[in-house]
Amino acid sequence: MSFPTHRPRRLRRTGALRRLVAEVSLSVDDLVAPLFVREGISSPQPIDSLPGVSQHTVESLLAEAARLVELGVPGLILFGVPARKDPEGSEAWNPDGIVQVALRELRRAHGSDLVLMADLCVDEYTDHGHCGIVNHAGEVDNDATLALYANAAVAQARAGADIVAPSGMMDGQVGAIRSALDADGHAASVSILAYSAKYASSFYGPFRDAVDVTIANGGDRKGYQQDFHNVRESMTEIRLDIAEGADMIMVKPALSYLDVIARARHEFDVPLAAYHVSGEYAMLKAAAANGWIDGELAAVEILTSIKRAGADFILTYLAAEIAETLG
Ligand code: PBG
Repeated sequence: MSFPTHRPRRLRRTGALRRLVAEVSLSVDDLVAPLFVREGISSPQPIDSLPGVSQHTVESLLAEAARLVELGVPGLILFGVPARKDPEGSEAWNPDGIVQVALRELRRAHGSDLVLMADLCVDEYTDHGHCGIVNHAGEVDNDATLALYANAAVAQARAGADIVAPSGMMDGQVGAIRSALDADGHAASVSILAYSAKYASSFYGPFRDAVDVTIANGGDRKGYQQDFHNVRESMTEIRLDIAEGADMIMVKPALSYLDVIARARHEFDVPLAAYHVSGEYAMLKAAAANGWIDGELAAVEILTSIKRAGADFILTYLAAEIAETLG
């Protein structure tokens, strides 16, 4: 029996050999932790559908951020849960709104040691749960919504955000935000991480528990977020966002969209993020809690696969525990 001269198993013999030839590796530098801060609570509230994740008070948020810095995690992304919601989501740009208060405190505590990102949307702040202004026909009005996003961007920048991350999927949102930031003096300092290819996904379920959002009248976001049947459309979305001034782009969710990540990596040169979302985390935790998979090994495998697909960094609720594992 004759063998080909190339025998791939020769390079898999030992752990050291496998490390030597590994094509990608997961590092703490690749991680961004999503954190929730809620107004009007006196102690952190655990989120049942996101085991290990809580809605924070400003105080407990600061403690969690200090832990992340200690672990070497370079950044966090902040989501706010306001005490008061209204049709426009005006707490999103109130200088004393919960995210702005939290950003100022985080900036004071950590200076430039931690990249502060702020999710920029109004769904956590509107009483109907949509990502924008709802018109008489019950539809989200794209162009009227841009002004709200511009307001929120300026408020977040003034409060100390390094990066604003528009997640509402309105057409033209990156351009509107960039103009507003530039006009307010943040041209050189505040970047935009665009949720460019964000799909209408059933994997956001636990997140909506985390931010107390129910979309009115059984509605959904299919009119503004992308259809999961499409991948070419994502390249159009990304191209538009970069042309409007996005510094970095994102694909979301991650695991069911590795083809989108790979294609975006191939076609574009700006930093590429992937969001391993709440439902993806919840599935992993549920299976691990039942003893059906090894949670830690599966987590490393999942996050490494997202890097292998081409992401430069990953927003994940696993950030702190994986940083501990890697550390
Ligand atoms: C919108 C937003 C959502 C998520 C991040 N930003 C929810 C949505 O679009 O309905 C989901 C994140 C996750 O599921 O972890 N502000």
